[in-house]
Amino acid sequence: MYILAIESSCDETSVSIVKDGVEEISTVILSQMDTHANYGGVVPEIASRMHVENITIVIDEALKKANMKMEDIDAFAVTYGPGLIGSLLVGLMAAKTLAFIYNKPLIPVHHIAGHIYANNLVKRLEFPLIALVVSGGHTELIYMKEDYSFEKLGGTLDDAVGEAYDKVARVIGVPYPGGPLVDKLAHTGVDTYDLPLPLNDDSYNFSFSGLKSAVINLAHNERQRGKDIIAANMACSFQNRVVEILVKKTMKALKFYNVDNLIVAGGVAANKGLRQALTEACKKASVNLIIPEMKYCTDNAAMIGAAAYYAYKRGDIAGPYLNAKAVTLLK
Ligand code: KG4
Ligand code: ZN
Repeated sequence: MYILAIESSCDETSVSIVKDGVEEISTVILSQMDTHANYGGVVPEIASRMHVENITIVIDEALKKANMKMEDIDAFAVTYGPGLIGSLLVGLMAAKTLAFIYNKPLIPVHHIAGHIYANNLVKRLEFPLIALVVSGGHTELIYMKEDYSFEKLGGTLDDAVGEAYDKVARVIGVPYPGGPLVDKLAHTGVDTYDLPLPLNDDSYNFSFSGLKSAVINLAHNERQRGKDIIAANMACSFQNRVVEILVKKTMKALKFYNVDNLIVAGGVAANKGLRQALTEACKKASVNLIIPEMKYCTDNAAMIGAAAYYAYKRGDIAGPYLNAKAVTLLK
């Protein structure tokens, strides 16, 4: 089954063709990052406009790259949420129109299901598993008993981990998008700053706004004294706290649910500190750890095409009234 998938929830216009949920035939990603970097973050209205300008070009390019025609496609899939509403609507309208014209099924995919199923393109998922989803918009621990069954164990109560990275980056003078650069900087610094371990309790929830505020306050106090923080040391101290709490709660969930498969998904899965710490902890606990290649960590339509195959098998087919949802739970 060839699925043409569209992802436009944030600042990437992406289209992929994926076969049977496991084989990526072609992917095109048009990133708007350079444009948004001028503003220090994603500007929703600009993102929507750029999706409108690019969506048909990206669809054509994905077909051309696969050496296929629209008639070869068996179903159309699209991210319906969560994300920026204007951006989501562009992808949604395109997918709906194609499904209508070619009289093929329209498969709605939750963005986080996509991030999880990115791993299915690397290696077929094994169940039961725990997924740690860490991105610019999400920090979630999810239990999966079988394909396309999601039980949320916990999530962030405030800022997502990637969002906290991007905000801390700004405070310590690192340009947007801050996450990858803070990660790089952290490896050149020393953990000298006394930052709190956030929401260090028995739940599977996370909270990063207190930690972010602690960084802002420390920087502010230093500057008032006419000094400045040492950016590399602050990056290292911040990253150590983030990684420690993510690893602690993830390992606790694996033990409690007696699961020995862990997958990590989302943009922050690219974080070197997190990868190292999870690799060590999983080795010690004999847990099978899967982290996708970098290209599958950040937003792409291949992950949506992979998830869509299993969504379809579960019976998730949308009608013409499918709407975009800025906020929506993974079910
Ligand atoms: O999954 P993604 O591409 O988009 C969302 O769905 O949010 O994730 C983007 C987020 C950004 O906040 C970015 O700063 C963060 O992932 N990120 C990182 C790293 N690479 C990307 N954060 C920490 N360390 C990294 N190496
Ligand atoms: Zn994402």
